[in-house]
Amino acid sequence: MNVLDAIQKRRAVRSFSDQPVPADVVETILRAGSRAQSSKNSQPWRFIVVRNRETLTALSLLGKFAGHVAGADFAVCYVGLEQATWNSFDLGQAAAQMQLAAHELGVGSCIAAMYDQEAAKELLGVPPEMNFFCVISFGYPSADHQPLVMGGRNPLDETVRWERW
Ligand SMILES: Cc1cc2nc3c(=O)[nH]c(=O)nc-3n(C[C@H](O)[C@H](O)[C@H](O)COP(=O)(O)O)c2cc1C
Repeated sequence: MNVLDAIQKRRAVRSFSDQPVPADVVETILRAGSRAQSSKNSQPWRFIVVRNRETLTALSLLGKFAGHVAGADFAVCYVGLEQATWNSFDLGQAAAQMQLAAHELGVGSCIAAMYDQEAAKELLGVPPEMNFFCVISFGYPSADHQPLVMGGRNPLDETVRWERW
């Protein structure tokens, strides 16, 4: 699979099989995220990997649309070390790289916004001054996985402006 194929075809996966993702595949996904670019190469992130089923279930209750986390093989929690402007931009790039790498390895993924960020921090012992608003579920897609019908993208001529607004 090449990068363009992965970008074109990847869809969010919210339903996972029981087949565990091997440790070397998990590590490859994590390395892809830690290779992301960041402002001044500050790498202002920590990635908490959660595999404990009770913790996954508890995380799934902290977002309005986070139910898929309960069934994930593992979840990566994106913790921002700084409150700086570029922090979420940097974390977003790390997240996208992990999701693309996972896709190449046959592992599905979906983001879950943590609506109750403070409870999420308390659950995992994240210091209060840090950001923790996002978890990504990872796992092999279940046999009956179907992407949501919504998922198309706006046409390019609506999205792109040339030279000026
Ligand atoms: C910042 C962000 C937050 C998201 N939060 C959630 C979420 O809480 N729950 C969920 O199921 N999907 C979430 N998503 C996934 C989007 O719904 C999904 O990427 C979008 O609908 C496009 O779907 P597709 O990737 O299958 O084309 C989030 C995506 C982003 C980028």
